Amino acid sequence: MITVHYDKKPIYSIVFGRNFLDATTHLKELDVDKKRVCIVTDSTVASYYLKEVEELFSTIARKVTSFVFPAGEENKQLSTIENLYEHLINHQFDRKDLLVALGGGVVGDMTGYAAATYLRGISFIQMPTTLLSQVDSSIGGKTGVDFKSYKNMVGAFYQPSLVYMNLSTLKTLTKRQYIEGMGEIIKHSLIKDASYYSWLKDHKDEILELNLDVCEEMIERSCQIKRQVVENDPTEKGERGLLNFGHTLGHAIEKEKGFSLLHGECVALGCVSASWISYEKGLISKEDYEDIIKTFEAFKLPIKVEITDSNSVLEAVKHDKKMEAGIIKFILLKKLGKLILTEVLMIMS
Ligand SMILES: NC(=O)c1ccc[n+]([C@@H]2O[C@H](COP(=O)([O-])OP(=O)(O)OC[C@H]3O[C@@H](n4cnc5c(N)ncnc54)[C@H](O)[C@@H]3O)[C@@H](O)[C@H]2O)c1
Ligand SMILES: [Zn+2]
Repeated sequence: MITVHYDKKPIYSIVFGRNFLDATTHLKELDVDKKRVCIVTDSTVASYYLKEVEELFSTIARKVTSFVFPAGEENKQLSTIENLYEHLINHQFDRKDLLVALGGGVVGDMTGYAAATYLRGISFIQMPTTLLSQVDSSIGGKTGVDFKSYKNMVGAFYQPSLVYMNLSTLKTLTKRQYIEGMGEIIKHSLIKDASYYSWLKDHKDEILELNLDVCEEMIERSCQIKRQVVENDPTEKGERGLLNFGHTLGHAIEKEKGFSLLHGECVALGCVSASWISYEKGLISKEDYEDIIKTFEAFKLPIKVEITDSNSVLEAVKHDKKMEAGIIKFILLKKLGKLILTEVLMIMS
């Protein structure tokens, strides 16, 4: 179990389990017996886990309802939030009630945003079911939706009351969705912890085979890194920006490829590119750069991508949210797993 603090006060726990039932004790601590609970999930996750989670809450909560929307990033929109508000109003949810985000980052981001805004804020918990959401999106309180074609354009910082991970849910992910999460995990090791980077390489086979004991250690180590960064900088004014390593080019590639590549795959490509720039600038050695490439490759992540229009990638980089005052900032590795540096690479006219 990990406790996340803000202003030195404990705010919520991150709990690792192998089934949903073990969440019971932690849920009772949140007084769910006095609450109406709405389980928010998408159609795919619902087909695997909704019944089990409904059963869990039906024995401990005052009332349980479910809101299921069609799976997919294209539904991470205000229109889905509106339907959720309507569902909550129809079921007379008030400020003391609870939302449960059961699913990946799309479910988590949207449920968190609905929780932040419904009646000016009701509690919510995260039950992340993808590797990416377990090590990344469920922690740190960034919530939101896409607006038209703009990703995560509307949102709020809003903290969950609990993050409960049933690690067994990883078993129903496609291989590609599972591996995608490794993009963010390798990034964590590169930016913060060289010994974790070596550990990942040493445990590659167990990780790829989804050995849950090894995966639990990995997920816990990544959550610790994310915890540390978000505690130091809850609203992304400084250090938290370092989590964007590999994301400046990653996002641009994601866009240029019309979202045919998954986010974690683009992060891998972005990390490889940022490592190359780091090497070119004499910050890391050739050996380290080559080792980074080999590691992403070993975890079956892409290290090369065919780009038909490099200008459109440049345009996308220029429009990335991380550009400030007309200047593109790249986060570069200074030393493997130790220090990173923000460098101005291009000044826009
Ligand atoms: N809030 C943050 O800090 C933060 C950080 C990173 C990413 N994000 C957001 O997270 C989203 C991506 O998250 P994601 O990759 O989890 O996407 P996702 O929620 O769309 O899940 C990917 C797919 O896997 C399915 N799925 C989920 N769990 C499953 C399981 N256990 N078994 C089988 N299928 C399952 C889903 O139905 C979906 O089709 C993006 O919208 C991104 O913007 C947010
Ligand atoms: Zn990311």
